[in-house]
Amino acid sequence: MGPYGGDFNLKIEKNQDFIYYGAMVILAIETSCDDTGIAILEAGGEASPVFSVLSNIVSSQTEIHRQYGGVFPMMAKREHQRNLVPVLAQALTSAKLANYKSQDTNSKLETVKKILEKEHSLFEQVKEFLTNYERPTIDAIAVTFGPGLEPCLYVGVNFAKALSYFWDIPLIPVNHIEAHILVNFLEHRVIKFPSVALVVSGGHTQIILVNGVGKYKILGETRDDAAGECFDKCAKMLGLKYPGGPVISTIASKAVRGQTSYKLPRPMINTNDYDFSFSGLKTAVLYAVKGKRLTKQYVEEMCVEIQQAIIDVLLKKTLQAAKDYQAKTIILGGGVSANSELRSQFKFKIQKQPLGVPAGPAKFKILFPEKNLSTDNGLMIAVAGYFHRAKKIAWQKVKVNANLRIS
Ligand code: KG4
Ligand code: ZN
Repeated sequence: MGPYGGDFNLKIEKNQDFIYYGAMVILAIETSCDDTGIAILEAGGEASPVFSVLSNIVSSQTEIHRQYGGVFPMMAKREHQRNLVPVLAQALTSAKLANYKSQDTNSKLETVKKILEKEHSLFEQVKEFLTNYERPTIDAIAVTFGPGLEPCLYVGVNFAKALSYFWDIPLIPVNHIEAHILVNFLEHRVIKFPSVALVVSGGHTQIILVNGVGKYKILGETRDDAAGECFDKCAKMLGLKYPGGPVISTIASKAVRGQTSYKLPRPMINTNDYDFSFSGLKTAVLYAVKGKRLTKQYVEEMCVEIQQAIIDVLLKKTLQAAKDYQAKTIILGGGVSANSELRSQFKFKIQKQPLGVPAGPAKFKILFPEKNLSTDNGLMIAVAGYFHRAKKIAWQKVKVNANLRIS
């Protein structure tokens, strides 16, 4: 369990009578890529909500995909099927919402079987779970319905539908990209708009104008690979493990600075737009490493340079967008935003003058989530679900959309 486990609280004492009229408990499910995430969140209030995290469990499949150097959707789907029930049981237990009941046979299980007809091995576990556990006291189930890997999204959505039907609890469909942005509300209850969000993950790299919750416009995005994908593929070429982002980041942080003798391109850094391209960087790394002995020093230097090339373009374009749209805040989200160097360079660029010059007043406030919440997790789905609580619907109406866009 991560640091946001069962006893984490924001602003509210556990077991205190909930102070907000209309407070609700949301169970959230995330399976869009290779992490199985389930969280339970209690939330209340309107403009600046109050959150109490009851549990947040993430089961990572990294070890399984590592041997292949990337995520295999069908294998990820199989792992989600295996993980969902144990993760749910852990999330409910941690939130003190798991109660055993005496076994009974329930006629509803026939429909549950139909909902999970394409997830047969999951059905067997769900059946046992539903037979043994009482309906928990939750008000809604939020679930990622896109974007992401289609087979993975289906497992999570069908699982959510089965629970929704069996327990008679409405569903809230959540956009994964929006959740990467809105998770910032957990720590910063008030966010000033307009804001420019940079969502950088393994599948997406987008600069989004945020005029309020639910009011988005994509200003620019990658024309080919995502930044996280670039980290992962470059790492593979250097003989490093998957996922490449954290590995490159760790090696780069230990490297002796100022020694890089290789200069990689910063694709599209000077174009007059907010778009990105990372496939050229990947190709440049491919040519650079060709026939080279991958010595420790060489790999270190390449890690520093790859990371810096990616940071340079992300920083330049995001700052430009923030200036052009007179943003009050810059919001970072997605797996790559866990990168320490990226965080510190964003902070430095935004909050300080060049070295030696006293710090000036910051033009924008910069927000990023706690590192564990930058990468995929159920809690971000719960937070987004709370903001969209008015859109709760019957389980039959939820449809997977692997190519879902935010605007
Ligand atoms: O948001 P996320 O968990 O999943 C997707 O929605 O794709 O992002 C995963 C991506 C991977 O490409 C991974 O290499 C990258 O985020 N990542 C990082 C770091 N931690 C994860 N990239 C750079 N530095 C990190 N510390
Ligand atoms: Zn993600």
